[in-house]
Amino acid sequence: MAVYDSEGGLLAHDLYSQVSLHADFGGVVPELASRDHVRKLVPLINRVLERSGSTRENIHGVAYTSGPGLIGALMVGASVATGLARSWGVPALGVHHMEGHLLAPMLEVPAPAMPFLALLVSGGHSMLVNVQAVGRYETLGQTLDDAAGEAFDKTAKLLGLPYPGGPALAALAEQGRSNVFRFPRPMLDRPGLEFSFSGLKTAVVIATRDLDMSEQTRADVARGFQDAVVETLVGKTVRALKQTGLRRVVVAGGVGANKALRHLLKQQVLDMGGQVFYPRLEFCTDNGAMIAYAGYVRLAAGQVDTTPMQTRARWPLAELQPLAAIG
Ligand code: KG4
Ligand code: ZN
Repeated sequence: MAVYDSEGGLLAHDLYSQVSLHADFGGVVPELASRDHVRKLVPLINRVLERSGSTRENIHGVAYTSGPGLIGALMVGASVATGLARSWGVPALGVHHMEGHLLAPMLEVPAPAMPFLALLVSGGHSMLVNVQAVGRYETLGQTLDDAAGEAFDKTAKLLGLPYPGGPALAALAEQGRSNVFRFPRPMLDRPGLEFSFSGLKTAVVIATRDLDMSEQTRADVARGFQDAVVETLVGKTVRALKQTGLRRVVVAGGVGANKALRHLLKQQVLDMGGQVFYPRLEFCTDNGAMIAYAGYVRLAAGQVDTTPMQTRARWPLAELQPLAAIG
């Protein structure tokens, strides 16, 4: 939940994490997630509104995540946001979750000028996107199977790490030694900008099958896995820069919080004379601020919901309207 102001920028934001709720189950339980949103959303809205110093009189629109995602959870947000907008007499607007991620770096100073290349890596997506303008997103390549975050989560589970796996695996990798385990860099040796991570997970299964997994060995495996993912992501990003002639790079999505990825990407992009722009760590993983910003940009351009309370499990980025076409 966040309040964004055209002049003051981000006035307040906060997040209620369901990690502890889902941890016992090793992953998100959709029905529990929806019910917990019902309980937590209104108190969170009240708290953030109060902290922002705003009242209902100076809120001019309400944006919410319309998709893609789990329908039950989306419906809670959509109905609360639409209800609030109706009672306040202001427009509501459903925002695309991935557009939120792509625009998250715009919340930082300095913000990247468009066009820029975005490496969008989350639990559900791994893609390279040419962000030409708001709503004008050209997907240059994406994963053929698992997303990068999914690969982190599944490998973490193999190593017996708690949910959520990505951050736990990254922490363990810091204790590991490089090159004790050398896993394949999927598709890096082939032309193109596609990713594939499911084979890497299998390689980890095979390499660890008959091993006595001491703490150091687990850390070495974690390090070997992280190195393989990071080098693959960075290698393809550099290739995309060369192919498109773009010079500015943004990393977005939960895996964008990975420090090894941020470090190597920065190094390689600076080496080729480019620039990197990273959202702060808390704006890489899912957050309300990016949705408030994306909603602000579109509401300010005159876009409002035509179908009220629309939620979408699937919603290709290419279906978004360019901002220039609104109004
Ligand atoms: O964008 P996000 O918060 O939610 C989705 O829209 O999917 O991304 C969550 C994903 C999870 O797979 C999580 O394990 C991964 O991002 N993640 C990380 C790190 N922090 C979150 N993966 C690697 N290193 C991290 N530090
Ligand atoms: Zn996300």
